[in-house]
Amino acid sequence: MNELRKDVAASIAAAVPGLEPAEAYRQIETPPDPAMGDFAFPCFQVRAQFGNAAPPAVATQLAAKVAKPACILRIETKGPYVNFFADPGVLAKSVLSAAFAAGEGYGRNETGKGQTVVIDFSSPNIAKPLGIAHLRSTVIGNGIRRLWQACGYTVIGVNHLGDWGTSFGKLLSAWKKWGNEAELRAKGVEFLKDLLVRYTEETKKDPAYQQEARDWFRKLETGDAEAKAIWQHFRDISLAEFKRVYTLLGVDFDSWSGESFYVDQMDAAIAQLESKGLASESEGAYVVDLSAHGIKEPFLLRKADDASLYGTRDLAAILYRRKHYGAKKLIYVVAQDQKLHFKQLFMVAKLLGADVEPVHVEFGLMRIVRDGQREKMATRAGTIVLLADVIQEAVDRVHEIVADREWDAAKKDRIAHAVGIGAVIFNDLSRTRTKDIDFNLQQMLDFDPETKAFKGETGPYLQYTHARLSSALRKYGKPVAGDVNFALLATDDDKGVARQVGRFPQIVLDAATRYEPSILSRFLIDLAGEVNRFWKQQRILGDDAALTAARVLLVASARQVLKSGLTMLGIEAPEEM
Ligand code: ARG
Repeated sequence: MNELRKDVAASIAAAVPGLEPAEAYRQIETPPDPAMGDFAFPCFQVRAQFGNAAPPAVATQLAAKVAKPACILRIETKGPYVNFFADPGVLAKSVLSAAFAAGEGYGRNETGKGQTVVIDFSSPNIAKPLGIAHLRSTVIGNGIRRLWQACGYTVIGVNHLGDWGTSFGKLLSAWKKWGNEAELRAKGVEFLKDLLVRYTEETKKDPAYQQEARDWFRKLETGDAEAKAIWQHFRDISLAEFKRVYTLLGVDFDSWSGESFYVDQMDAAIAQLESKGLASESEGAYVVDLSAHGIKEPFLLRKADDASLYGTRDLAAILYRRKHYGAKKLIYVVAQDQKLHFKQLFMVAKLLGADVEPVHVEFGLMRIVRDGQREKMATRAGTIVLLADVIQEAVDRVHEIVADREWDAAKKDRIAHAVGIGAVIFNDLSRTRTKDIDFNLQQMLDFDPETKAFKGETGPYLQYTHARLSSALRKYGKPVAGDVNFALLATDDDKGVARQVGRFPQIVLDAATRYEPSILSRFLIDLAGEVNRFWKQQRILGDDAALTAARVLLVASARQVLKSGLTMLGIEAPEEM
C-alpha cells in the first residue's frame, strides 16, 4: 500500500510546483469509503500553486494535470479532493504480500523504538467504590497503552492510586469511633464509604470532628504506626476489590505506586520550586501563582495546616517518572473534570523546566441504561452500582445466549467471558472518547437467535466475524504467498477487503498519535463490513485452485488484522463462537 501511495505522491508532486513528494505523501489520505477511491488528496494546502482558487476548483485543475501512475486505474474529483482508484490486482499484491511477510506483526511499527512513555490510567481512590469514570479510564488507558506498544514504545502502565489525602484523616477518625472489622470484611469498600459519609454528617453537628480528622491525617503524614497500619489495611481491602474488576477486564499495571508513594518526595519538589522563586505564600497557604501564565487559579502546594495536596504529589510524580523511567511523554487518562488540575500541573512542570511532554487524555461521561432508562452516574463521588457487578452482567448474558451450544462447560465459560467482556470494552472504545456514552447491555450484545449471529457495531460482531474466518481457514488450510496470482482478486468485494487490510498500519499509527482507540474500533467495523459483504457475494473455495489460493491469502490477512486490532483494543478474539 505504501509503494502505491508513494507512486501517487510522486505524480502529485510532479504536478504541483514546490510540493515535495514526501509532503504530498504525508497529505494523502486513505478514505474509509471505497467510493472515495483508495487514495485521496485534499486540496486545501496547495491553493497557492493554483492561483488561490477555491479547493474544489483546485481539485479539478490538479486532476487534469496529474499524470496517472501505473498502479492507478482512474482519477476523479469529489469536492476539494482528488481521488485515486487503484488497480485491484496491484493493490492486492502490494497489501497482501506485506501482510503475509509481516505475519502477526502486521500493523505494528517501530516509531517509538528505544523510547519509554508512562501512562497513568484507572487510578481510583481507595476506600471508595470504583466509579464508572474509572472504568472508562481503565479501558481507554489500556487501549492507548497497547496502541503505543504497537508503535514500538516501551510503555509503563501506572495505577496512580488515590491512597493519600485529608479524607484519610476523616476515615481514620471514623474508624476509631465506629470501626468494625467483621463488617468491613463483609461489605468491603462500601463500608468505608459509609463511614466517611457518616463522619461528614457528624462533622456538621460537631465541629470538633474536623480537628480530630486533621490530627489523624497529621499522624498519618508523620508516620504514626497505628495510623499507618489501619491505612494499610484499608488499602489492601480496596485493592483486592479493584483487582476483581481488573481481572475481569484482563488489565494489569506495571506499577501500583499511588499518591502515598510520593509523600517523602514532596519537599524536594517544593524546594525546586523555591529555588526558582516560584513558590509563594497566599492566605496562609503555599502556592504557585500562575496568573502571569494565563491561569488565574493558583496551584496549591500546601494548605494552611501544613497538609500536603493532590497536586503536590502529582508534581513529585512527574519528576519521578522523568527520572526513574527516563520517560518524556507522560500520558494521563483522567476524567474531564480534572482539566484545570492538569493545566496547572503541566504549567508548573514547565516553569520548573522539567523536560517532559505531558498530556491529559480526557473522556466523556458514561451512563448506565437499564430497561431503556438512563441512570445518571456520578463521576467522582462514588456510585450506586458496583462496577464488577455491572460487568459480570454482560458475561452472564452471553452465558444465556450460548446455553444451548454443544460445548462443554469450560468452553462456555471461556466464550461467555471473552464475548461479554469484549462487548463492554468495545462499547467504551466505539465513540470518540470525549463524547458521552451509554452502557447499554441490550445494545452491546445485539444477537440474532435465528442465525446465531452477533450484530450491530459491537465487539461481539467483530469477534464473530473473526471466528467465522478462523473456521473457514481451518477448513481450507494455511495460506501460501509464493505463486499467488493477485490479478484474480478482481471483484469489488475482493478489493474492498484488501484495501481495508492495507489501511491497518496507518490506522494504528493515527489511533496511537491521537490517543483515540475509537479510530481503530471504527476501522475494524469497516473491515468486518467488507468481510461480510465478501462472504455473502463470493466463495473462498472456488472451482479454480488458483483463485482459491488467492482468496485464502486474502481471508487469512483479514483474519489477522481483526485479531491484531481486537488485541490492541484489549479484546480477546476466540477462534470459535
Ligand atoms: N485518583 C484520581 C481520581 O479518582 C485520579 C488520579 C489520576 N492521576 C493523577 N496522576 N492525578 O479522580
